[in-house]
Amino acid sequence: MDDLIQRAAKDLADSKKAVALTGAGISVESGIPPFRGKGGVWEKIDPEMADIDMFMRDPAKVWQVLIKEMKHIIDQAKPNDGHIGLARLEKMGILRTVITQNVDGLHQSAGNQDVIEFHGNFAWHYCLICNKRIENSRIDLSVIPPKCDCGGIYRPECVFFGEMIPHHHLLRSKQLSAQCDLMLVVGTSAVVQPAAYMPVIAKQNGAKIIEINMEKTQLTGNISDYLIQGKAGEIINKIVAEVERLNELR
Ligand code: OAD
Repeated sequence: MDDLIQRAAKDLADSKKAVALTGAGISVESGIPPFRGKGGVWEKIDPEMADIDMFMRDPAKVWQVLIKEMKHIIDQAKPNDGHIGLARLEKMGILRTVITQNVDGLHQSAGNQDVIEFHGNFAWHYCLICNKRIENSRIDLSVIPPKCDCGGIYRPECVFFGEMIPHHHLLRSKQLSAQCDLMLVVGTSAVVQPAAYMPVIAKQNGAKIIEINMEKTQLTGNISDYLIQGKAGEIINKIVAEVERLNELR
């Protein structure tokens, strides 16, 4: 693994416009469970709860079972070495943008300035009737589903299953994926489209694809040039320390 860390550090140090695509796995070391696999959210909660039709049919149930639960976990979470390492890479001028499927806001908390929230966020909610936006911390959970002064139900600014990715996020992500010279794909099972297509676009346009994941994915050995297997925080921390060392020598 040390060889792969050296290799990733060199590839990053040589890169001028790297992009990262992150998924739930990067936030596991911050105490947020992934969706799939052992201990994943979908083991305990029916994924139908994340479907927009379900939310519109029974918003109280979706707030109670899924949103309130996730909001509680996200509210406690702090960035880990994975998020912090990516912020260091942005400061060094190596990493241009983080495209994240996560709604937890931890990349911004770690200091990344350019983050595309591909699946939206839990930091803001909006009223289904008057469209008023309200910050997460001001949501009153004493009544479920929480309601706006106008009587409309609040929903998080995230993308439910069955909804489109916000057009500007999708366009910009595709553009950046096509232009990057290196893509770090961190902690995603790469099974949810269209996010999982971004590494394919990057690869087709000649970028190096480095995967960091606990397990092989459908990108491994196919789209990704190599996989560094293990915990994202530990691996990114080692890679970034090595990039900093290489930069001092140059
Ligand atoms: P998944 O839960 O599908 O995948 C998480 C990935 O992270 C898996 O490949 C794990 O092997 C890996 N992993 C777990 N712990 C890790 C660690 N400490 N370090 C590195 N890797 C680790 O999550 P996503 O791919 O993000 O969408 O899921 C994509 C989308 O599916 C989510 O954005 C969400 C979900 O349904 C919506 O809600 C629209």
